[in-house]
Amino acid sequence: MMRTVQHPPAVLPQANESCWCGSGRKYKRCHKRSEGRVLPGVVSPMRSVPSEIERPHYADTGVVEHWDEPRIKSPEVIERMRHAGKVAAEILRLTGESLRPGMTTEEVDAYCHQLYIERGSYPSTLNYHGYPKSLCTSANEVICHGIPDSRPMQDGDIMNLDVTAYIGGVHGDTNATFFVGDVDPQSRELVRITEECMWKGIEAVKPGRPISDIGRAIEEHAKTHRLGVVRAFVGHGIGEQFHGDIQVLHYYDSRNTMIMRPGMTFTIEPMITLGAWQHKSWDDDWTAVTADGKRTAQFEHTVLVTDDGVDVLTGGEGAVSPSAPWHR
Ligand code: MF3
Ligand code: CO
Ligand code: CO
Repeated sequence: MMRTVQHPPAVLPQANESCWCGSGRKYKRCHKRSEGRVLPGVVSPMRSVPSEIERPHYADTGVVEHWDEPRIKSPEVIERMRHAGKVAAEILRLTGESLRPGMTTEEVDAYCHQLYIERGSYPSTLNYHGYPKSLCTSANEVICHGIPDSRPMQDGDIMNLDVTAYIGGVHGDTNATFFVGDVDPQSRELVRITEECMWKGIEAVKPGRPISDIGRAIEEHAKTHRLGVVRAFVGHGIGEQFHGDIQVLHYYDSRNTMIMRPGMTFTIEPMITLGAWQHKSWDDDWTAVTADGKRTAQFEHTVLVTDDGVDVLTGGEGAVSPSAPWHR
């Protein structure tokens, strides 16, 4: 069935006047609630991936199996993960550089999808538990797992792009928050501190230390700036499986006692909020938004614990750098 989308008039009613949409309800009880919020658009059919490209086990069914996979990867697996990480990092940078006001996230997905294919990689999110697109696009108050759709990006949006590439039998997972056009100073600050939080977490990676050190470092930095840390989504083990069994909380929890060991690979992906850390989900069962509608940002890297610290598998040359031009 076709539905026409109604757009608000240039001059909006007062809170207690009746809504512009003709529902007969007071404006404050009707469309005022969603004003300035990201609204769901139309999601197009899944794209296909050429059959020459190696596919993860869930690509055709959408059913994700889990199996015992060593947390400590062999040097051979690590080499493959280095490559997957580099591929993901480059796709993320190029997709980020393509963002323009007016472009829809659907168009972003189409461009990004082609970048995966050109590099011989499969977009890990595509049909993962049925997820319909090749990356996640999470704008403004969307915390994570936003689905690319017909919404045109607006001047002033902050847009997180989360890219995961499957190549050589392993996944590389990385995300960053980009500016669309002219972004207000408070949002720019949020994005800057969020990236710093991710780096504080990465710097806390040391063999022999409990994994809770990561969340402690992230939470401390967020608190210093009076920002919230989302609790419902965590970093994860990664390798031949997209989401392995290591859990990386982005806040401090003394029960998070797993000891970091050389050869472990996991993601660090803090989601930081201007307001409260609580979330709610859209009816699509994917899109997570802040409960209070305030903005949120995220950055993510896939990391390897080394003998004396950490290696960022989705970092280095070709990746989005800390002082990168997404600050344009
Ligand atoms: N890339 C996301 C992460 O960082 C996971 C996306 S899964 C999807 O873990 F199904 F939502 F795409
Ligand atoms: Co991840
Ligand atoms: Co990710």
